[in-house]
Amino acid sequence: MAKILVTGGCGFIGSHTIVDLVENGYEVISVDNNSRSNPNILLGVEKITGKKVKNYKVDLCNFDDTFAIFQENTDISGIIHFAAYKAVGESVAQPLMYFENNLVSLINLLKCVQEFNIPHFVFSSSCTVYGEPDEIPVTEKTTPKPAESPYGYTKQMSEQIINEFAKAVTTKHILLRYFNPAGAHPSGIIGEMPLGKPQNLVPAITQTAIGRIEKMHVFGNDYPTRDGSNMRDYIHVCDLAHAHTLSLQYLESGKQTERCKVFNLGTGSGITVLEAIHAFEKTSGEKLNYEIGPRRPGDVVAIYANNDLAREELGWNPQYSLEDIMSTAWKWEQRLKADETVFSSQYGELN
Ligand code: UD1
Repeated sequence: MAKILVTGGCGFIGSHTIVDLVENGYEVISVDNNSRSNPNILLGVEKITGKKVKNYKVDLCNFDDTFAIFQENTDISGIIHFAAYKAVGESVAQPLMYFENNLVSLINLLKCVQEFNIPHFVFSSSCTVYGEPDEIPVTEKTTPKPAESPYGYTKQMSEQIINEFAKAVTTKHILLRYFNPAGAHPSGIIGEMPLGKPQNLVPAITQTAIGRIEKMHVFGNDYPTRDGSNMRDYIHVCDLAHAHTLSLQYLESGKQTERCKVFNLGTGSGITVLEAIHAFEKTSGEKLNYEIGPRRPGDVVAIYANNDLAREELGWNPQYSLEDIMSTAWKWEQRLKADETVFSSQYGELN
């Protein structure tokens, strides 16, 4: 059984990916300093898979602590690197914190990849690297534009660092550019736990519907799109998670000739903010309290993926619809409300 190190394993995409990896026969260890996540999410992972996953509570910016994980686990055959800060607005206010955290952790990890000769490395990138694209859908060949935020620059710079590193080592790398991850595990056992007021659309919708937020705002309805609101490509977190398993299998099969390859992970269809809200209202039966507000600085008008490459090369075939995204996110939000202990140490005792 191949042993995979997942960084940021207690986060939203990390935890769902661990479930998918375990269900596909991988042994997984996680490293997460829990600065932005709850370690008890791994109890939820255990509930779903029946397997305990060990988390090393280590900050990847500390090289010695990171190195020690590899010394203890000399049989790691692949790394999936999720751990990073991801709040666009916060990155504008605190750019150095973002550059330091997201880049130093990556460099430390790559030093270990080199030292311990780890064969496979998968990196969590973002469609943010495309900026405001000239043409949609974007393919992996679409030229990246200057980033809109320090967060976006950390993704672009990370990709550059990995590209250059890949030329110097035999490790094979995959860069996965996520579009807009949303939804939750259909069991309702794990899901996203946004800290503070949610910045992303789907948690904003579900938190408004449940009453945590009184009213949400649609950030602009005067964009050149079919209904005036921004267009994005919302991809279910379980579809996204499975793409990581397929990426590792692809690397293991030896099919990847390049040292570093990029894949877009989106559904291939663009959905506007208003369409997303209406899809939520239809699937949940709830009327959402929202109003049109001003544009949010830094938002691109419209972006969605051409996902042909991931379909053809990885055999990826996203299964979940927009309605599934909304219904699973809603199920999770209702569970959080019904059971506040989800956030506590008693998480493991829940049914
Ligand atoms: C952004 C980043 C993405 C990053 C993600 C992580 C860009 C272009 N994209 O995605 O790379 O991975 O954050 O957090 O930088 N909206 C509302 N009301 C709300 C919340 C959102 O109208 O209360 C709208 C936004 O204006 C946007 C859409 O919903 O048009 C999606 O927003 P969000 O979920 O924040 O994702 P992105 O900004 O696309």
